[in-house]
Amino acid sequence: MPDPHAAPRRAAERALDYLENIDDRPVFPSATSDDLRTALGGPFPDDGVSPEQVIDDLADAVEPGLVSVAGGRYFGFVTGGHLTAALGADWLASAWDQNAFTYVSSPAAAVVEEIAGRWIKEVLGLPGGASVGLVTGCQMAHVTCLAAARFEVLRRAGWDVGRAGLTGAPPIKVVTGRQRHATVDRALRLLGLGTDSLALVDVDDQGRMRPDALAAAVDGVAPLIAIVQAGEVNTGSFDPMAEIVPAVHAAGGWVHVDGAFGLWALASSDLSGLAAGAQAADSWAFDAHKWLNVPYDSGVAACAHPAAHRAAMALHGDYLAPTGSEYDAMDFVPDASRRARGMAVYAALRSLGRSGVAEMVDQCCALARRVAAGLATIPGIEVLNDVVLNQVLFDAGERTGELLARVQASGETWFGGTTWAGKPAIRVSVSSWVTTEADIDRAVAAIKAAIE
Ligand SMILES: Cc1ncc(COP(=O)(O)O)c(C=O)c1O
Repeated sequence: MPDPHAAPRRAAERALDYLENIDDRPVFPSATSDDLRTALGGPFPDDGVSPEQVIDDLADAVEPGLVSVAGGRYFGFVTGGHLTAALGADWLASAWDQNAFTYVSSPAAAVVEEIAGRWIKEVLGLPGGASVGLVTGCQMAHVTCLAAARFEVLRRAGWDVGRAGLTGAPPIKVVTGRQRHATVDRALRLLGLGTDSLALVDVDDQGRMRPDALAAAVDGVAPLIAIVQAGEVNTGSFDPMAEIVPAVHAAGGWVHVDGAFGLWALASSDLSGLAAGAQAADSWAFDAHKWLNVPYDSGVAACAHPAAHRAAMALHGDYLAPTGSEYDAMDFVPDASRRARGMAVYAALRSLGRSGVAEMVDQCCALARRVAAGLATIPGIEVLNDVVLNQVLFDAGERTGELLARVQASGETWFGGTTWAGKPAIRVSVSSWVTTEADIDRAVAAIKAAIE
């Protein structure tokens, strides 16, 4: 009798083989899109093949095109690796195939999410009464939290946006820094606020909002939402939230924190000062798939005003069987059917504990400082930011673009490019628990070799 589970068994073997040999692979693949199309494509076949064959063929075809994000020398974007417990739990979530939209559709998934949400609040020191929804990433966490913000600031202005929509509503002003993340603008577009609602506040040389400019921008403005940043994507800098949050609250506004990766600084006693004031905000959007090292896709939307969160998000329908007493995720996220995303988040938190989360964050920051120290020894390279977190920004003058292309092609390591103060720059994000000092030294050596 053939093994009915041959395909997932083979998939696990292939996955582990891939992970065990990841150090021998180039960090960025050399396969072209045509190579991949040739290996995968052709017309849609009339007949199928065995599931096990599909797994082998798929892995053979795609492995030459995979980016070694799970290894220690990938520093692109802000890309966490995955903790082994989180990976295992994610596999189980797929095998169990729970539809985690409400308690009745999966009591286990609902309670796991409830506990994971509580632990996240505990490790970050967010208010115990905050509501939490596990979403696909920080982008959708923004949409979720800003929908709650939109509901609440309009409610305060006497307008029920859930019933009346935005047509004729008092116009909302959204105050944020010039160096905000791109996902903020998209969230505003999706929510019908539009980018015309933005009032942009000047920032300093690290990308932090200037508190005096913020104070002027919120003065007498209502309805008001302010969006602050905990971890600027290039420099890792934090807006001065201890000053901004009270100023916005005094103006009657809502403060939303974009803490995609940086909010995890709150878990570290050495770093939490950077995010001082964040815990007094009204909502927080951040990721588990970045610095908590949970596999994609995994983000968190937390809100200090559960009634507004629920009013913006709740899904109604008799057949949906709301419990009213248990955790029904559909009331806090923009999805209906959804995977049991909490399993991997729970497993990551359980495997690390409070001390482990802090150590992982601290370790990445220490390694970022090692990158900066290594770069400082290379003539022609200038580190552009204060390395306060896990991000290092540098350039090589006129040779920045060429250096970046060479390093990316080397297969030794991978960084992304950006523009900073109007000039090309290179960003390094140390976000994986597997990265070691030896990985950093190898990456710095690759830069040195490329510039020489
Ligand atoms: C500051 C900031 N906000 C939001 C995002 C978007 O996060 P996601 O890609 O998880 O939606 C990022 C991603 O790097 C980020 O750095």
